[in-house]
Amino acid sequence: GNRAQQTKIHEPLLLGVMGDPIGHSKSPVMQMAALKELGLSGSYVPLHVKGEQLGAAVEGIRALGFHGVNVTVPHKVDVIPFLDAVDADAKAIGAVNTIVNDGGFLTGYNTDGIGYIRSLKEEAIPDLSGATVLVLGAGGAARGIVHALLKEKPSEIIIANRTTENASKLALEWASLGKITACGTDPEALAAYAGRADIIINTTSVGMHPSSGATPLEARFIPEGIVVSDLIYNPLKTRLLQEAEAKGCRIHGGLGMFVNQGAYALEYWTGLTAPSEAMKQAVLTEFG
Ligand code: ATR
Repeated sequence: GNRAQQTKIHEPLLLGVMGDPIGHSKSPVMQMAALKELGLSGSYVPLHVKGEQLGAAVEGIRALGFHGVNVTVPHKVDVIPFLDAVDADAKAIGAVNTIVNDGGFLTGYNTDGIGYIRSLKEEAIPDLSGATVLVLGAGGAARGIVHALLKEKPSEIIIANRTTENASKLALEWASLGKITACGTDPEALAAYAGRADIIINTTSVGMHPSSGATPLEARFIPEGIVVSDLIYNPLKTRLLQEAEAKGCRIHGGLGMFVNQGAYALEYWTGLTAPSEAMKQAVLTEFG
C-alpha cells in the first residue's frame, strides 16, 4: 500500500514469533490485526522452535527472508549469540524479544521493559520520577522492567525476591544507574518495604492462569491508595489486583505491556506507528 511505499517496506511482510511452547501465543492474532489496520499485506506466524534448533531457526530468518521475528519463552537469553548485533539496552537486560532483519543483518532489541513503562505511564501514573517502587521478583521479566524504570529517575527501586541473593545480584549489577535496594519476601521485610512504596509491581508468575488463586503479596501488606501493577494479563485482573482495588489502590494489569511490546516491535520492523488500540481489541477478543 501507500504507507509501505513511503517507508520502503517490502510487502508482503513476513513476520513471526519463536517460542516453545508457542500454540497459546496471542501475538499472531494481535499482529495480524495490526497489519490489517495499517493496510499492509503479510503474515505473522507462530514458530515452534526447540532449544536445540534455535541457531538453525535464526539462520532460517535470513534464509527465508523474514523481515522480523519476536522471540519468547524460553529463548530470549539464548538467542543473543546467534545475532549480528544487539541493542545496548537489550544487551544490558541480557534478553532479546525482537529481531530486525536488515538485508540479512540481524539486530536484537528488547521491547518488554519499554513497553511496560509506556503502559504504566499511560494507564496509571504519568510521572515516575521521585517514586519509590517495590518490584516483586528478580528474574528475566524483572530485569527488563527495572532497567526501563531506572531511566524514569525513581527515587528508589526495592527488589523483593524469594531468593534474596538474586535480588542482591541485580541491585549490585545496576548500582551505578540508581538507588536499588534488595530484600527477601519474609513478612518483616515486606511489611517495611511495601509500607513506603508508591508503586508495587509484580514481575513473578505467581497468580497466573491456571494458578489464579495465588498471590505474590498478602493483602495485609498492600498500602491503601497506592498504585499496584501486575505484568500478568491472564487473568486480566489477578488476585493481587483485586485485593489492591479493594484497598483503594489504582490498579494496572499486564495487557498494556503485552500490546506495547508488540507495538514497539512492529514499529522497529516497519517504521510505522503501530495501531495499539486495534491490537489491544484483538487480544481482548481472544479472551472472549
Ligand atoms: P521471568 O522471566 O518470568 O521473570 P524467571 O527468570 O524464571 O522468569 O524468574 C521468575 C521470578 O519469579 C524469580 O524472581 C522467582 O524467584 P526466585 O529467584 O526465588 O526463583 C520468582 N518466583 C517464581 N515462582 C515463585 C513463587 N512461587 N513464589 C515466589 N517467587 C517466585
